[in-house]
Amino acid sequence: MSDFPKSLIDIVDLSQENINELLEIADDIIANPKKYAHRCDGKKLATLFFEPSTRTRLSFEAAMYDLGGNVIGFSDAMSSSASKGESVADTSKVISCYADIIAMRHPKEGAPLVASMNASIPVINAGDGGHCHPTQTLADLCTIRREKGRLDNLTVGFCGDLKFGRTVHSLISALSEHTGIKIVLISPAELKLPSYIKNDVIKAKNIPYVQTTDLDSVLPDLDILYMTRVQKERFFNEEDYLRLKDSYILTESRLETGKDDLIVLHPLPRVNEIAVGVDKDPRACYFKQVLNGKYMRMALILKLLGLEKGE
Ligand code: CP
Repeated sequence: MSDFPKSLIDIVDLSQENINELLEIADDIIANPKKYAHRCDGKKLATLFFEPSTRTRLSFEAAMYDLGGNVIGFSDAMSSSASKGESVADTSKVISCYADIIAMRHPKEGAPLVASMNASIPVINAGDGGHCHPTQTLADLCTIRREKGRLDNLTVGFCGDLKFGRTVHSLISALSEHTGIKIVLISPAELKLPSYIKNDVIKAKNIPYVQTTDLDSVLPDLDILYMTRVQKERFFNEEDYLRLKDSYILTESRLETGKDDLIVLHPLPRVNEIAVGVDKDPRACYFKQVLNGKYMRMALILKLLGLEKGE
């Protein structure tokens, strides 16, 4: 079995072998949940959320409870000593005295990396600014594999805020390791994919890609449509956000040109970019993604604590 990193900060920290192992553990958890119900008895997860979250924080907490463990933490930076000026480094050293593993979300890119360098326990990046969100990528990969039966030979459209959408950055990196991937980038000019991802990942790995502002013209070609929210919290001025927020709205009629076996993903939260009527379309898989996120976080906690085989 391949080495597993001490912490998970960026999806590129995981080898293909690591990711495959997590996918297999998650499949086994789904098939045999009772087998895992006491794997983390006596262990504590600390959820340190310096930025709002519903899915990531609560799915980490649900994951730890489903493994028999306990959870401590905070969901608002203002209720922690960060509000008094405590550094991420010191917070991480302190939490290492109380818990066995940390999941951290922070508005500053690199904060979970700093935490991992100072903590004596594993640290999981639960989203850092506009940088990356590796556990969302694990949820995305699990959903793609379970729904499409493969992670290769796929044409994947990313639509919306590709500039600030950290889940897009992480998923492109992960998919770039597979053969036969084609990327379609659909965004307004102001919200294009950052050039470091385009150059260092897509171009560096010779992945065929198309860049467009027109969703309708590319929708019939896609195997996966990954919709994203325009990230209001990363904008410097409200006027730009209001102008761009409804750039793409996926409706039932718009989806008519999509393939029968298309899958529609969205990391959520949704604001306005997918009409609620689309939810009943069997191709809408974003709520399955939410559930798969919990199973992948269970698998990750087990691997980082070395408990995947039990004690
Ligand atoms: N997908 C995701 O990160 O959702 P939350 O912000 O609710 O955690």
